Amino acid sequence: MDLDDVTIYHGGQFKAYGDARIGLLTHGLNYGTGCFEGIRGYWNAAENQLYFFRLAEHYDRMRSSAKLLMLTLPEDTEALCRNTLELARRNDYRQDVYVRPIAFKSSEEIGVRLHNVKGDFAIVAVPHKSYFDASRGLKVGVASWRRIDDNSAPARAKLTGVYVSSALAKTEAVENGFDEAILLSSDGHVSEGSAENLFMVRGGRVITPPVTDSILEGITRDSLIELCRTELNIEVVERSIDRSELYAAEEIFFSGTAVGVGPVIEVDRRLVGDGKIGPISTALGDLYAKVTLGKIAQYRQWVTPCFPSLVAGAV
Ligand SMILES: Cc1ncc(COP(=O)(O)O)c(C=O)c1O
Repeated sequence: MDLDDVTIYHGGQFKAYGDARIGLLTHGLNYGTGCFEGIRGYWNAAENQLYFFRLAEHYDRMRSSAKLLMLTLPEDTEALCRNTLELARRNDYRQDVYVRPIAFKSSEEIGVRLHNVKGDFAIVAVPHKSYFDASRGLKVGVASWRRIDDNSAPARAKLTGVYVSSALAKTEAVENGFDEAILLSSDGHVSEGSAENLFMVRGGRVITPPVTDSILEGITRDSLIELCRTELNIEVVERSIDRSELYAAEEIFFSGTAVGVGPVIEVDRRLVGDGKIGPISTALGDLYAKVTLGKIAQYRQWVTPCFPSLVAGAV
């Protein structure tokens, strides 16, 4: 894909990707003072429709990330959602898409701080490419890098600078022959993957670290907790997880906008369960795929259609 052909939203206008100019001294580039979102649109070919998943929730989360950085998003959530849909239409995306809204300190001057620095905001949408193929199950390793602590730089917010922690862990994992990393919190509990939340199954119950164990408060995590409880009738417990519990787990899976449900079949060279993708991971993965495509009536409120409906009589 050629980015020159992509229309973006920046400075309250739709423009060509190349027309947004960011200077070398931009505060956010130098000091990591920015926040972003990752949102997906799912192409439902049968309905000729692009469905955005939990669009408003992503912008609500972005607003709280921005608040942490003393940044104000330029529009309310309704307008941001409307402009995201318009952006996809202007690009005429009739395929899966990945949307990257970004807000950042934009003053071009030396001096690290949050106060008295201007902000900027843009939305870029590109065709979605698979982040990694989790269909055969992922082999993961516990990283030597710890997840950044809430009192250092909050992992709860999606801050650009905080992603150095993810990048260090991810590259270490890949260089050690794994697909992905699991990061521990500073007090040694399981936190999350480099860009995913983590769930494990023990004794038939689904367990995931609490939001106080240095995790991003994932929107997919929230969705899976709801689907597990309501649709699969499986108990979900939010509690701290010890590293050694990963070796005893019956199933482990990641959750995230990029990966969806990402089953893990090996941790630190030990098989998870019998080394095959487990039944709960499979059931949740199937359900989540249907929900994101707007195929399940009870969860239609989680998806926002992009194009005018072709159904007769619809407005
Ligand atoms: C560090 C981290 N944890 C978890 C997630 C999953 O969050 P979500 O489900 O909202 O995409 C992401 C992805 O954005 C992430 O970057």
